[in-house]
Amino acid sequence: MSRIFINYRRADSEGHVGRLYDHLVQHFRPDDIFMDISSIEPGQDFVQVLEDAVATCDIFLAIIGSRWLTLANAEGERRLDLWNDFVRIEIESALKHDKLVIPVLVGGAKMPSPDDLPATIASLSRRNAIEVSHQRFGYDVQKLIETMKSQLPAHSSFKKQADPEVIYKKQEALKDLRIELVGATDSPLYQFRNENRYFPVIGEGNPDANIFFMGEAPGHLEAEVGKPFVGQSGQLLEEWLAGVGIKREDVFLTNILLDRPPKNRDPLPEELQFYEKFADQLLDIIQPAVIVTLGRFAMQYILKKLDVPEKKGKISDQHGKLIKAQLPYGEIHVLPMFHPALALYAASKKDMIKADFEKLRLFI
Ligand code: URA
Repeated sequence: MSRIFINYRRADSEGHVGRLYDHLVQHFRPDDIFMDISSIEPGQDFVQVLEDAVATCDIFLAIIGSRWLTLANAEGERRLDLWNDFVRIEIESALKHDKLVIPVLVGGAKMPSPDDLPATIASLSRRNAIEVSHQRFGYDVQKLIETMKSQLPAHSSFKKQADPEVIYKKQEALKDLRIELVGATDSPLYQFRNENRYFPVIGEGNPDANIFFMGEAPGHLEAEVGKPFVGQSGQLLEEWLAGVGIKREDVFLTNILLDRPPKNRDPLPEELQFYEKFADQLLDIIQPAVIVTLGRFAMQYILKKLDVPEKKGKISDQHGKLIKAQLPYGEIHVLPMFHPALALYAASKKDMIKADFEKLRLFI
C-alpha cells in the first residue's frame, strides 16, 4: 500500500483539494492519504516533523492554485518565502528525498517558472504537471490516478493486510531459521547456552511486521523462556508502544545476539559476526518498513550493513532520527533509539526515549 501526501495551501485550493480527496479515497485507503499534519507538540521541531511525514510517503502531490505563488501575509510578504512556510518546507523535503512529486494545477493555475520560485524548490518547475480543470474534474483526476498508479515505486515502503499465504510462508521460514539457530553448535555462546539450559531467542511478533525492533541480547529471563523482551526493559518497551497505539504482537522483536552472553556483558566482535547471518535472514523474511535499533550495538550493525553516511555517528546524535536506506526489497527507514534499559538506570532518559517512540506514529 502506498502513502500519498497532499501538499496545498488552504487559502489557495481548499475546495479543489476536498474534491480531489473524495476521488482519491475511491482508489486508495483513507489512512494512506495525508493532508494536514495534525499534531505538532509543544517543543517539537516543526521542520523535523514535516520532514519525517514527507520522508515516509511514496507520492507527493503539490497542489498549485491560481494564488499559490503570490499569496502574502498581512505584512505583504510572500508566504512561499517565509522561513516557516509549511508548503515550501514540505516541497523541499519531498525534493530532497527524491519522492515522486507531481505538481497538480487547479483553478486555472499555470506552472510557475523556476525564476519565480525560492531557489530551494526551483526544480519543482521541471516536474511534469497535471492540470485538473473545473469542467473536466472527474476525467482529469482519473488521469492523475492512472499516472500515480503507473509511476508508483515498485516497492512501497508500507505493506498492509498481507495475504494469509504470505504470512504462512513467513511463519514457516521463521520456524526453519529457529531450528538452524537451535542447532548452531558453532556459536561462541553455544556452550554457555547449554551449561545454563538456556534457550536461544530468535525473536517473536508479527512475521509480516512493518516495524522491526532489534535490541542487544537476551537477558537471563529471556534466555530462560526463549522470548525477547520479557523483563523490565520489555515492560517499558510495551508501555511506550501502547503510548503510540501499537501492540507488542503487531511488531517483530529480536536482538543482534540471539543467545545470552555471560553476565549480560557487551557483545564481543566474534559474537556479533556470528549472529549477523541470522539478523540478515530475519530482515529478508519480515521485510519491515522501519528498523528500530535499541542501543548502540544494533544501531552500528544495521547502519554499517546498510552503508549509510550515518554509519559512523554516535547514538547520542542519531537517536530519534529517521535514516533512509535501501534493502533489496525496497526503501526502508532506520530509527535509532537508546536501549530501554537506559531508562531503568537513568530515569531522566525516559522522556527522551518516549519522545523518540512518537516517530513510530508515521508507520501505523
Ligand atoms: N534487552 C535486550 O536487548 N533484549 C532483550 O530481549 C531483553 C533485554
